[in-house]
Amino acid sequence: MTAFSLPHSAGIPTQARRYHAARLAPFFASALFAFFAGSAQAQPASPAQAGANDQPATYVGSETCQACHEDVFNAFQKNPHHLVETSAKYKFDTKACESCHGPGSKHAESTSPSDISNPAKLKPAAADKVCLSCHLNQPTNVGRITGSHAKNQVSCASCHSIHAKGPDGVAPHKAADVNQQCASCHGNVWASFQQPFRHKLPEGVMSCVDCHNPHGSFQPGNMQTSRGSEPGCLNCHADLAGPFAFQHAPLQTEGCSTCHVPHGTNNPRMLTRAQVQYVCLECHGNLPLPTASDVNGTIPPAIHDMRSPRFQNCTVCHQKIHGSNVDRGLFR
Ligand code: HEC
Ligand code: HEC
Ligand code: HEC
Ligand code: HEC
Ligand code: HEC
Ligand code: HEC
Ligand code: HEC
Ligand code: HEC
Ligand code: HEC
Ligand code: HEC
Repeated sequence: MTAFSLPHSAGIPTQARRYHAARLAPFFASALFAFFAGSAQAQPASPAQAGANDQPATYVGSETCQACHEDVFNAFQKNPHHLVETSAKYKFDTKACESCHGPGSKHAESTSPSDISNPAKLKPAAADKVCLSCHLNQPTNVGRITGSHAKNQVSCASCHSIHAKGPDGVAPHKAADVNQQCASCHGNVWASFQQPFRHKLPEGVMSCVDCHNPHGSFQPGNMQTSRGSEPGCLNCHADLAGPFAFQHAPLQTEGCSTCHVPHGTNNPRMLTRAQVQYVCLECHGNLPLPTASDVNGTIPPAIHDMRSPRFQNCTVCHQKIHGSNVDRGLFR
């Protein structure tokens, strides 16, 4: 976890930060009020809310910003957030810049960086609040910030650059681009995908977000879900979803990762063990082991003679290892 830098703290004196916080509080209040109460326009902060000897900044509109930030303004015309500029729905029409940067009248006069909020310089939680004033509880699951990213101060802006990489940089969508972004911090996971048996991420056919929701989820490990609460694996491996008349218990109780390593391994079928029998014997250890002297076994199923190669390849007989609709012994 060294490959990323935390956006907060960099170079803002404490004084200025306190000033920011004081000035931003009314901004959040008014933005949230506008958002939830549906008032016609986001109200400029009222003087009563601001610091004692300090007139609060007011909204001036994006055209004012254009005068000095022509490049950013022009690039913004193609940004997905341009919708904020043109649609009344978000309460910031004609002043989209200030939906994220807060009211800008003071800064437009002074041109001082300390008079305008830059999300990249806020603490992660505060920066996320700016984004979540619009993106909270969206159907895409954006906004569930309980995941380990939010808990570990990986803010929205660590993955979404609003201006830096042009309109296509706001969110990666191609599998290869998503993988590159995730790999930039999770180098060890990316290394697993270089092993012989793994999903086709290096080829750009699949991406990390096919299995993980970077915005958090109800499952451990930020896993994507299928049909509500089932593991996201079943979105693609639907044939294994069941329900089967005869379930193999660990699929329900333990999940796929008990037997498989989806990030990749040296073992065929991405199994946890090089040989299938050792996967099985971890739980069915009461079967006599290959070296056992007791041919008939002591515990059922006594028919298994583990010294005979015939019985070592479990899935030759127990073919429907993920569940069967016809046979309790998972034979077919
Ligand atoms: C009169 C010119 C002028 C106007 C108008 C103006 N800015 Fe700036 N802005 C500047 C200058 C100069 C800087 C400082 C650049 C630097 O130091 O690198 C700056 C810096 C910024 C920064 C970076 C602050 C930081 O912490 O690094 C942001 C964000 C910003 N402006 C947003 C806006 C927005 C939003 C508007 C419209 C409400 C706006 N500006 C209007 C001149 C202006
Ligand atoms: C959706 C939120 C959002 C909107 C809308 C937005 N910005 Fe930004 N802006 C940011 C964030 C976040 C940063 C920090 C750097 C980054 O992530 O690209 C930033 C950084 C900046 C900077 C600092 C220099 C830089 O490029 O890093 C300037 C200047 C700026 N914005 C101006 C504007 C202007 C002008 C507009 C309107 C045309 C605008 N912003 C609209 C979120 C926004
Ligand atoms: C004022 C409301 C508002 C704020 C604040 C806001 N957004 Fe958005 N965001 C939008 C709208 C509107 C869209 C476009 C949705 C659409 O196209 O349907 C959007 C789209 C996006 C997308 C999707 C881009 C794509 O290519 O699909 C991302 C990512 C995003 N925003 C991130 C952020 C981040 C990060 C922040 C905080 C720095 C932020 N937003 C702040 C309103 C907002
Ligand atoms: C760890 C990286 C990461 C973080 C942190 C992150 N996102 Fe995303 N976000 C992504 C990726 C990757 C996508 C593209 C997903 C896709 O194309 O399926 C995305 C997509 C989106 C979209 C587009 C809608 C969609 O589902 O395609 C929005 C809006 C968005 N993010 C907003 C946010 C907001 C707001 C935050 C902070 C609360 C945030 N994101 C934090 C990686 C991240
Ligand atoms: C800016 C760095 C950064 C980026 C980019 C990033 N992550 Fe993370 N991720 C972290 C940190 C920090 C943690 C928490 C510590 C850990 O578990 O390694 C984490 C944790 C996770 C976890 C573990 C969840 C858990 O609860 O155990 C998953 C899964 C994950 N990230 C997936 C992704 C995916 C998918 C992407 C790409 C969309 C991504 N990350 C991009 C920094 C990042
Ligand atoms: C085929 C599905 C799948 C894909 C693709 C996938 N993961 Fe995972 N990942 C999992 C499963 C399953 C777990 C274990 C989750 C749990 O129960 O905690 C996991 C765990 C993790 C963890 C936490 C534990 C650890 O191993 O460090 C991180 C971080 C992570 N994945 C990141 C990534 C990243 C980054 C990518 C893309 C390069 C990725 N994953 C692609 C399925 C997948
Ligand atoms: C986006 C679709 C997708 C998701 C989600 C997915 N897989 Fe896969 N999986 C595939 C594809 C496609 C293959 C075939 C890969 C190949 O041919 O290289 C595969 C292959 C496999 C294999 C190896 C099959 C073999 O014959 O070697 C296993 C085991 C597996 N997946 C388990 C999982 C598990 C466990 C999860 C959830 C953690 C998961 N998959 C999630 C698409 C997916
Ligand atoms: C009890 C251990 C176990 C569990 C749990 C398990 N698998 Fe398997 N899986 C295996 C074994 C063993 C094989 C290899 C079968 C063989 O040798 O032909 C396999 C093979 C596969 C294959 C390769 C093709 C096929 O259909 O046989 C896929 C895909 C797969 N598993 C996905 C999953 C998914 C998704 C889950 C979770 C829903 C899961 N597995 C849970 C043991 C398990
Ligand atoms: C994580 C533990 C676990 C692993 C690994 C595992 N099993 Fe199971 N298996 C169980 C449990 C628990 C049951 C249910 C036992 C019961 O209902 O009495 C079961 C049931 C079975 C049954 C059906 C027994 C019956 O008649 O009800 C067969 C056959 C079976 N397993 C074969 C295998 C094979 C072959 C493997 C290796 C590919 C394997 N198991 C791996 C835990 C496991
Ligand atoms: C040659 C075919 C064959 C092979 C190979 C085989 N089994 Fe079986 N297995 C059977 C038969 C037949 C039964 C049913 C026995 C009965 O009903 O009394 C059975 C039953 C079982 C049961 C259910 C026992 C119970 O309590 O009813 C388990 C668990 C099991 N086998 C696990 C394994 C494991 C683990 C392996 C690999 C080490 C394996 N089997 C290899 C044929 C085989």
